[in-house]
Amino acid sequence: MYNLLGDFMERLQKIIALSGYCSRRKAEELIQNKKVKVNGEIVTEMGYKANYSDFIEIEGNPINKSEDKVYYLLNKPRGVVATVSDEKGRKTVVDLIKTNKRIYPIGRLDYDTTGIIILTNDGELTNFLTHPKNNIEKVYVAKIKGLITKEELRKLCNGVIINGKKTSSAKAKILKIDKKTNTSVVELIIHEGKNHQVKNMFNAIGYDVLKLKRESIAFLTLDGVKSGNYRELSIKEVKKLYGEKK
Ligand code: URA
Repeated sequence: MYNLLGDFMERLQKIIALSGYCSRRKAEELIQNKKVKVNGEIVTEMGYKANYSDFIEIEGNPINKSEDKVYYLLNKPRGVVATVSDEKGRKTVVDLIKTNKRIYPIGRLDYDTTGIIILTNDGELTNFLTHPKNNIEKVYVAKIKGLITKEELRKLCNGVIINGKKTSSAKAKILKIDKKTNTSVVELIIHEGKNHQVKNMFNAIGYDVLKLKRESIAFLTLDGVKSGNYRELSIKEVKKLYGEKK
C-alpha cells in the first residue's frame, strides 16, 4: 500500500521487526503499551501503517537510524540454513558473513539449495524485493529426476496448482536431457517466492528436484562470487533494484 506521496506503507510492527529492534510480537506489545512514537506522536492503534522514512522511536530511542545499511550478495552453499539462527545449531547464512551489523537474509533458500541470496539490515529493501506486487525475477536451475517433455514444461509456464492456488506465469527451458542417468536440467524463471516454490512446481507436474540453484535475482548474478563467498552490493546496485519493479 502506498500513501499519497507514493511511499510504501507498512504495518508499524513489521517495520520495527525488520529494523532488527525486536520481534514482531514484542513490537505489538510495545505499541499497545504506548511506547512507540511515529513522527513524535504516540501510536496505539494495532493496524497503524507507517512508511520507512517515518521517524520511529521506541521509549525515546530511534529505531535503526544510527546503523548504516549494509547489503551482501552471498553464494549460498548446500548444508547452510537461510535464517539468522537455527534451533538445531546448524550453520546459517549469517555465520558466513563477517559483520557486526544485525543482518538477515531476504527470503528463503532451502537447506539443500545453493546460489544467490541477499543479506541486509534494510527492512525497506527486504519488503520491496519480497512483495509479490513488485514481480522481482528469479532464475533457478533445477536438476530433476526423469525426462521432462516440452508439453510438461508448458504446463509449468502456464501455472500449476500448489495448495489450491495457481502459480503465476513462468518461463522455462530445457538445458539438458540425459537418458543415461534419467535426469533433466531445466531453467525456470519465476516472480513468486513462496516456500519450496520451485520444488512444489516440479512436484505438481510429477517430478522430484534432485538439485536446485538460484542463479540470479533481478540483474544480480553470481558472477565472480564462488560458493560460500560473498561481496557487498554497491549503492548503485541497490538503487537499481528499486527500478526492477515490473
Ligand atoms: N524453491 C524451492 O523449492 N526451494 C528453494 O530453496 C528456493 C525456491
